[in-house]
Amino acid sequence: MSSQDLDRGLVLDAVRVTEIAAIAAWKLVGRGDEKAADQAAVDAMRTALNDLDIDGEIVIGEGERDEAPMLYIGEKVGRGKGPAIDIALDPLEGTTLTAKAMANALAVMAWAPKGSLLNAPDTYMDKIACGPGYPEGVIDLDKTPAENVQALAEAKEVDPSEITVCVLDRPRHAEIIASVRSVGARVHLITDGDVAGVINTSDPTTGVDLYIGQGGAPEGVLACAALKCVGGQFQGRLVFRNADEKARATRVGITDFDKKYDLHEMVRADAIFAATGVTNGALLDGVAYEDGFVHTHTLVMNSSTRTVREVRMKRPV
Ligand code: FBP
Repeated sequence: MSSQDLDRGLVLDAVRVTEIAAIAAWKLVGRGDEKAADQAAVDAMRTALNDLDIDGEIVIGEGERDEAPMLYIGEKVGRGKGPAIDIALDPLEGTTLTAKAMANALAVMAWAPKGSLLNAPDTYMDKIACGPGYPEGVIDLDKTPAENVQALAEAKEVDPSEITVCVLDRPRHAEIIASVRSVGARVHLITDGDVAGVINTSDPTTGVDLYIGQGGAPEGVLACAALKCVGGQFQGRLVFRNADEKARATRVGITDFDKKYDLHEMVRADAIFAATGVTNGALLDGVAYEDGFVHTHTLVMNSSTRTVREVRMKRPV
């Protein structure tokens, strides 16, 4: 499939898919049930995908076949005709955010020509990302957070105290946070949602320059699809806590457990990325109901054309 094929209709199809998932999850916002919210988004996204003229395969999904009844890795979706595509999805990025009615929950999906997305296992990944406009290699996972802040500050021609680093608020990140602050930079802590955390580095209005930390590997692939569209740099390395996690990686074809992946190794061809807000956030407004209409706000981007669109949808309930 050529890059051009990605343009035709697939952009709007992607919007419809994440819109439907976000609306389904929104019905469970604030109800304290993460699993029900996730399941609603999964069911809705699957139904929407199966209604499309695509020959799709889930490469980043809800887990392995025996543990995920739907949208499992390897599941075929679509009507089986049309473009052959790899699909990465997170029907509800921020299950806790949704259950607690907190900001920044999203329905997210990316697609790319078959064989071009990293088949990442459902493990953690060490990640570092920055936005566009910096010399290639300015950030590096093998440097300390303090060194990365200093390198970025130098490239940006500012003092390190003017750099803001987004980090997931987890005890495992204590050293990263201390290292960032040791050179005077700010730490922007988020409770969940590192897909948006990475994307925010590409948007100067967010004030976030760098993302550093350990989050889900599947979320890493989704974030890379987004950065592929808007520019920026990313490096990721899988983290294995036990033999089972290594076995998961082996099953999806990973042989080098220590490999440091860059953006273009995680997403090897042009990609389309779509995200619809479930709850209000820095990136997107959440779903809203008013006078019998449901409203959604979606970001959809196409790396082949570097097109970024914001789509607002309104339809009767
Ligand atoms: P879920 O929507 O699956 O709950 O993921 C939210 C999230 O914050 C991701 O954005 C992030 O990559 C991951 O969880 C971090 O994992 P953990 O909560 O185990 O630190």
